[in-house]
Amino acid sequence: MSVMRQISGWVMMGIMVVMSGCAETGSSGGAMQKSMQASLYDRLGKKEAITAVVDDFVARVAADSRINGKFANANIPRLKQMLVDQVCEASGGPCKYTGRDMKSAHAGMAITSSQFDALVGDLVATLSKFKVPSREQGELLSVLGPMKKDIVTGM
Ligand code: HEM
Repeated sequence: MSVMRQISGWVMMGIMVVMSGCAETGSSGGAMQKSMQASLYDRLGKKEAITAVVDDFVARVAADSRINGKFANANIPRLKQMLVDQVCEASGGPCKYTGRDMKSAHAGMAITSSQFDALVGDLVATLSKFKVPSREQGELLSVLGPMKKDIVTGM
């Protein structure tokens, strides 16, 4: 990932936040604020940064003895590609996720709530390593959180 590109993205975002704060006082403030709001995809640093995050995250999961047993037979290159597409699309990016729905993809795996939380913890560790701001971390987790009911089937 280009660190300079990422940093300049966040600086741009800061400028946009300041501008939208000014626009708020105008008569069409709401509309203007909306049009200037960068998508979560852009704020995450687009596909390049999402790919770097997924690489680090999957390596972290592979090293996590609480959950790595579940991935013993997984097709890791495919999983990485699917995760990039899924995060890219869900955050407002131009990708199309072509994988299975979350219920089918995790059927029969008996994934527990604690295992789900362990995986999310690994993701948060990666996002923090990449210095993704807490607002963007929160937005990404609120996209993934609702998937829990389809993924967790174990006790
Ligand atoms: C928000 C949480 C999660 C998301 C977004 C997610 C996403 C995905 C995606 C996109 C796939 C690929 C589907 C496909 O190949 O068509 C997948 C597969 C898989 N996931 Fe998850 N997952 C999550 C949680 C978990 C958890 C908690 C575990 C286990 C502890 C897990 C284990 C697996 C395994 C073993 C596969 C199959 C890989 C393969 O067959 O090659 N996932 N997941």
